[in-house]
Order: sequence, then structure tokens, then C-alpha cells
Amino acid sequence: MNAQNPIKHSAYAKTAEEGLAAQEALDAGVTTSEEATAVAMQNTLLTPRFYTTDFDEMDAIDVSSVRDEWDVLINSMKADPNRGHFQKNEDWDDVDWDGMEPRLKREFIDFLISSCTAEFSGCVLYKEMKRRGANEDITTLFQLMARDEARHAGFINDALREAGIRVNLGFLTQQKKYTYFRPKFIYYATYLSEKIGYARYITIFRHLEAHPEHRFHPIFKWFREWCNDEFSHGEAFALLMKTDPKLTESFTNKLWIKFFLTAVYSTMWVRDHQRPVFHEALGVDTTWYGQEVFRKTSEISRQVFPLTLDIDHPRWRKNLDRMEAASRQIDAAKKRGGVGGMISRIGGMAKAATAFVSLYTIPSKPNQVPDSPRLQPAY
Ligand SMILES: [Fe+2]
Ligand SMILES: [Fe+2]
Repeated sequence: MNAQNPIKHSAYAKTAEEGLAAQEALDAGVTTSEEATAVAMQNTLLTPRFYTTDFDEMDAIDVSSVRDEWDVLINSMKADPNRGHFQKNEDWDDVDWDGMEPRLKREFIDFLISSCTAEFSGCVLYKEMKRRGANEDITTLFQLMARDEARHAGFINDALREAGIRVNLGFLTQQKKYTYFRPKFIYYATYLSEKIGYARYITIFRHLEAHPEHRFHPIFKWFREWCNDEFSHGEAFALLMKTDPKLTESFTNKLWIKFFLTAVYSTMWVRDHQRPVFHEALGVDTTWYGQEVFRKTSEISRQVFPLTLDIDHPRWRKNLDRMEAASRQIDAAKKRGGVGGMISRIGGMAKAATAFVSLYTIPSKPNQVPDSPRLQPAY
């Protein structure tokens, strides 16, 4: 593709830059939805963030110890089986946004905006690593992952555009706050978010396959190919972690892995329980869904993490529920404002912290990591 003949849609983009330009062109006639962008701009413990890291350290990774598996993975990503997939086609049913129950509409839009921000957050980080790097293995991987995330974010924006909403991706890139994470924290957090993303999308996809009457929006039909992309991205991070055994074997890093598992799982739990009407419309019990996603993610993460969380421990569910109650208290206190609101907010934060400590101190289950981490999506 060249400048005279730009691609029409992000689904066909070979790079993140092409995908973003195509989305920008589609948005040319749409007024920016300030409200949606403001939601995407939020930085709280529960909302998707943008990350930056030590790109030089990441660029110095030597993948020769996992070369064979690396090449197989990169070649499968280069083959690009999902090119052209992430756009509307004849399977895209009409969406009656005006007729949608208002609470469902609100929660669903919130879900789409937060998913779009999360996809875009991956795109921004991967694109930046590609831009700054000189190591061909690393830049090739990150360019392929950025390509995928640009398509995913673009597709969600297509869905939002139909509701008259646009998340201004260019504005977000420039204005959203970036959080610095050391490379090893990027590996743990990003690996987990890719794998939990796979588990979330495939669980919804399989559920709606069995109960199509609950598919209230066509975007869910695209979830299988979507989660396969996320699965590959997770595989790449598993291989990156394999290049340096210390990352998963040292005592301190095991504590960090447990910390990230606990933080990612509990954040997801609280976030999902904030969207009861959305899950009801899907016919999904939020609590069942949470545990199911944790179970799948834990099983997958045994490919590289030396431990899994004990999600059947008696303290587990009890403290997730406490976290959720604390988060509702904090929300209500924020809205209330004033001195009373502030005191209630501090109380809520203390409750959330106590619940987190209780979750974190549940004994984890040790795991014998296999020599070769590579997995295929099996759910
Ligand atoms: Fe994605
Ligand atoms: Fe991804």
C-alpha cells in the first residue's frame, strides 16, 4: 500500500500505522464523542492504562534459546490468517441502539469503550517498542502484535460509531497518562492480560454458540478469531519470559507473579460485577463467568508461571466480594463528595486493601513448568 492508495479499513492493515490512519479517515465525518474519550482517558485502578517501559532493555532480549518455537510462532503471525476479518460483513446484523434497554446500553457502551481502550493500550505500547527497537526478532514481533491490536481497536470503534460514539485514538495517544513499568512487570502484566483476554472472549463465544438467543449484538460473532490473536500474543510473552529463567524462578519474582495474578483477577472481578445488566443480557452469571475465566487462565499460565492461585480456597470468593463492596463504597463516596464522602472513601480504600492482602496471602499452588511452553488454543 502506498500514500496514493491508502487501505480502506483497519482490517486489512499490515501495520498499526496503516490501521490507525484508516480509522482516522472513517472518523472524518463523525463528531468526536467527548464523553467517550473522557471515559477512555480515566486512570483509576480499574480502568485500562497506557504503559511505557525501558525499551532498550527489551530490545536487548536474545531469543536464541527458544529459536525454534519463536520462528514457528512468528511465521504463523506473519501468515496473517485474520487479515480482513475485523470488519463488518453480511453477518453483522442490524443493531437497534435506540430500542436497547437504557441500562443495558449504558453498560454495553462502557464495556466497548473499556475494551477499545485496552486494545489500543496494547497497540500503543507494541508500536512504540517496534519504533524504538533495533533487534529484528523483537521489532518483528511487536510490529505484528501492534497490527493486530490496531485492527481490534478499530473494529470496536466501528461498533461504537454506529451508536454515534467515537473514541478519539489520536487524542488518547497524545494526552493519556503513561504509566512506567519495568520490562519484567510488562511481561507479567501483558502476558496475563493477553491470556485472560483469550479466556474471556472464548468463554463468551462458546456460551453464545450454545445460547444464540442471548447474542444481543453481532460483535460477539467475531470473538473466536479475535481471541486466537490474543492467544498468540500471550504465547510470544511466554517465550520472552522463557529466555530468562530468573524471571519466573527467583523467590522475589515468584512473589511478583503472585501479585500480578491476584491484581489482574480481582480487578476483572470488580469490573465485571459493575455491569450486571450486560451480563444478564448475555445470560451469563457474572460469578460463574469470573471463576471460569480464572480457571482457564490459570490452566494456560502453567505453561510458564511456577505457581497458580488457589481460586477454590474459602477466602478467595469471600474477599473478591469484599473488594467489590469496597469499590462500590468508594464510587458512592466520590459522588457524595465533601468531608463525609472523603471519610467514606478512605474507609473503602482500607477495606479494599485488607481484602487484597487476604487474597494475596492465600497459599498458592506450586507448578512444575514444562520445558517447552508452547500451547494451542484449546477452549
Ligand atoms: Fe487485541
Ligand atoms: Fe493482544
